[in-house]
Amino acid sequence: MKPSHRLGFVLRLSIALLPAAAVAGVPAERGPEAYSQAVDGLDAAQSAAFLRGRALFHQVWVVAPSLEHEVEGLGPLYNAFSCSACHPGNGRGHAPDGPGERMRSMLVRLSVPGHGPHGGPRPSAAYGDQFNEQGIPGVPGEGRARLSWQPDVFRYPDGSLCALRRPRLQLTELAYGPMRKVQTSARIAPAVYGTGLLDAVPDAELLTLARRQRPDHVRGRVNLVWNAGNAQMAVGRFGWKANVPHLTQQVAAAFLGDMGITSGMFPQRNCTSVQQACRQAPAGRVPQLDPKQLADTAAYVATLAVPPASVPSDARGEAAFTQAGCANCHLPELHVADRHGASAGGESVIHPYTDLLLHDMGAALADGRPDFRAGSRAWRTAPLWGIGLAREVDGRAGFLHDGRARSLEEAVLWHGGEAQAARQRFVRLSRADRLALLDFVAGR
Ligand code: HEC
Ligand code: HEC
Repeated sequence: MKPSHRLGFVLRLSIALLPAAAVAGVPAERGPEAYSQAVDGLDAAQSAAFLRGRALFHQVWVVAPSLEHEVEGLGPLYNAFSCSACHPGNGRGHAPDGPGERMRSMLVRLSVPGHGPHGGPRPSAAYGDQFNEQGIPGVPGEGRARLSWQPDVFRYPDGSLCALRRPRLQLTELAYGPMRKVQTSARIAPAVYGTGLLDAVPDAELLTLARRQRPDHVRGRVNLVWNAGNAQMAVGRFGWKANVPHLTQQVAAAFLGDMGITSGMFPQRNCTSVQQACRQAPAGRVPQLDPKQLADTAAYVATLAVPPASVPSDARGEAAFTQAGCANCHLPELHVADRHGASAGGESVIHPYTDLLLHDMGAALADGRPDFRAGSRAWRTAPLWGIGLAREVDGRAGFLHDGRARSLEEAVLWHGGEAQAARQRFVRLSRADRLALLDFVAGR
């Protein structure tokens, strides 16, 4: 895979757009700003939307009523003040180191057994479908989500060791009564660059891939989820379980679920019937987000460039990746329809290293919380493009849906289910080949 494939259309806007913090001597496509560049070829209107969206992404939202009318509406219940709190540098979040540390870039989805209105998860009557740890003054936050870790060590056939940690989640200090039969799913924030391209992959491509026979009994499935934009079911593609169909809905859902900010798409505040103080808190503007703010924020994430892939130092890594069967799910190529000017150069192939489909990943990764068609063990193949820069952008960035993995190697060792055969081949590689494979992944 030559980097020029991706450079064909994902180039950078001029330096003038870069945040001032670009580090001297570090090219913009590496280092802390690696995920903060705009795709090339934006026209003046798109560049302006990118800048407005960038400001909104970093905006610290305030409690209503406020003099800062345009950015009021935080809460009453929420997880974070800003998008970038959870997606630092447009990258991924991390899990707390222990039960005493708060979740800063991570959240817990909730449900009770059964189905919700559109066949999705059924929210808890008292707590809703997401655990909001924070409340504005006068509104009690829902409680504390605490992660603790059970250490484990994996020993390779060649004797090398890798330390692993298995999460245990507890919800404590519950402010709205006990939770019965609750299903939880703790998820770190994934990175947001490249999502405009993932949004532009036609449904038809995903449906075709889902029918494709693959080695190792690998079979991808589409999630079918609720499209709040047109009130119909749609193919899911965003979120760790592909539980959201389109980028605009993902962003609107984040505004509401993570920050408590209503929009035309989600006009109801996220207060349950027992959360009286939440229901009575002043709302300020209704809805709190205007359509342009939603569109600008979505346009910003949609036009964040994927950092260029690096040329592998030797061909072994790519060969090992393919031969181990990683590429059965982490597909090197998908096609995109023209969108956001992304395929302006006539280029319509992207290299995200995902099929955007759900796979059974085994019991060790199961969360016990079905999400539309995604069962407890099912996860969307995570895109691998740009992943090697995660810790340059944020030193604590985590891997896998709950951030249990601290390295790419740990992430691979947790693979099971349909990925068990690939994991076994990985484990049996010589140490040099294993490192070459991981190096190849880090360079995508
Ligand atoms: C409290 C932390 C938190 C905040 C705040 C937050 N996010 Fe997220 N974001 C997440 C998590 C967790 C997911 C994965 C959700 C899932 O799997 O259901 C996610 C997923 C996403 C995705 C989908 C990425 C993918 O590849 O599937 C996008 C895009 C996104 N967020 C954008 C935003 C925007 C824009 C904002 C601000 C309006 C925002 N997020 C605020 C935690 C957060
Ligand atoms: C059966 C499909 C499948 C195969 C085969 C597979 N993966 Fe994955 N991979 C996934 C899924 C699904 C996830 C997300 C799992 C989760 O978050 O719990 C994932 C996650 C990852 C991650 C972490 C990504 C992130 O964003 O945190 C890495 C790294 C990774 N895979 C590398 C590999 C490598 C290397 C191989 C081959 C040895 C491989 N995978 C084989 C499906 C697969």
